[in-house]
Amino acid sequence: ATGELRDRLARPLHDLRISITDRCNFRCVYCMPKEVFDKDYQYLPHASLLTFEEITRLARQFVAHGVEKIRLTGGEPLLRKNIEKLIGMLAELRTVHGKPLDLTLTTNGSLLARKAQALKDAGLNRVTVSLDAMDDAVFRAMNDVDFAVADVLHGIDAAHAVGLGPIKVNMVVKAGSNEQEILPMARYFKGTPHILRFIEYMDVGASNGWNMRDVIPSAEIVRRIGAEMPLLPADPNYTGETAARWRYADGGGEIGVISSVTQAFCKDCTRARLSTEGKLYTCLFASRGHDLRALLREGRSDAELSAAIGAVWQGRTDRYSELRTTNTEGLSRAGERKVEMSYIGG
Ligand code: GTP
Ligand code: 5AD
Ligand code: SF4
Ligand code: SF4
Repeated sequence: ATGELRDRLARPLHDLRISITDRCNFRCVYCMPKEVFDKDYQYLPHASLLTFEEITRLARQFVAHGVEKIRLTGGEPLLRKNIEKLIGMLAELRTVHGKPLDLTLTTNGSLLARKAQALKDAGLNRVTVSLDAMDDAVFRAMNDVDFAVADVLHGIDAAHAVGLGPIKVNMVVKAGSNEQEILPMARYFKGTPHILRFIEYMDVGASNGWNMRDVIPSAEIVRRIGAEMPLLPADPNYTGETAARWRYADGGGEIGVISSVTQAFCKDCTRARLSTEGKLYTCLFASRGHDLRALLREGRSDAELSAAIGAVWQGRTDRYSELRTTNTEGLSRAGERKVEMSYIGG
């Protein structure tokens, strides 16, 4: 175990985000727009997906390199069959310091009420739930499959009840789509044990037609909420935290703002991403990954896998969000498309 691995900008490797399916039962307009992800869309065939054994074997090498937190993502991770079995396998890993991992997942909440207890029993520590509006009509239009707000809230309550809290609730804010929901969301979650976080709409992938005009800067979100419910800045929980924290002056809890567009946090980015088919990406905005599945299926040893992961991380220079201009296309290499968020995991 090294644990001392650093990339070219001296950033350690602390988090691993693993996408376990590229499928989702929602069609959020900013992530899997229906026009692209239609009935003819080619998802990965089952044989392309890493098996639970392969995921766990790779995760063990990442953990030996210093990873302390593993987040399962997708697509919608709860769509992967027997996910609790994978969670059970990952929950047995120990960090280089001998501690249990921080094991969590990001879900749209649609299957959470049904699965919360099994996830908890398998060893999951907590969950993050996406919810973009309190108003049913707005939410149904954003998920584009007519899914109701009440069902997501039910999932959040169920997860909290089984001890998967405190739950973080992520709201992507897109100008002209759900910005009128900022205050209703803040009012609803104020005073609850859940932590609401507002995410600036990002130019991930190649199909959401991102435009800088659709971004509401976090500073503006804090201003709008603070005007009604006064806020005070709070210190980060840890270096490199994606969200900046604000707490209600009256003790009603906290919110977070994730400013990946207006205040990039690449400087302390310690996140690696493993795609559904086993490619290692060192940035959310990468167009190319490193094929770890090929190494697994060629029968390489653990030492070889570990060396490959270490070499990729040591060569890492990514800081896309810091370099981003309003001309997002200009940043991608000619002819290369950024990978979709549903494939690489948020
Ligand atoms: P905790 O603090 O452990 O709860 O997790 P987190 O904030 O790292 O994870 P979460 O999945 O909740 O991240 C929230 C959102 O922040 C994601 O859905 C992305 O939209 C964004 N995000 C997370 N990591 C990155 C990153 O490395 N780069 C960029 N640009 N955005 C990120
Ligand atoms: N910009 C910001 N956040 C996004 N997410 C998905 N697509 C985008 C985007 N274009 C968020 C989801 C979820 C997490 C996985 O990533 O809403 O909270
Ligand atoms: Fe599915 Fe999450 Fe993407 Fe929405 S944001 S389409 S819930 S993966
Ligand atoms: Fe990390 Fe890339 Fe996001 Fe910057 S843009 S914080 S390097 S994932």
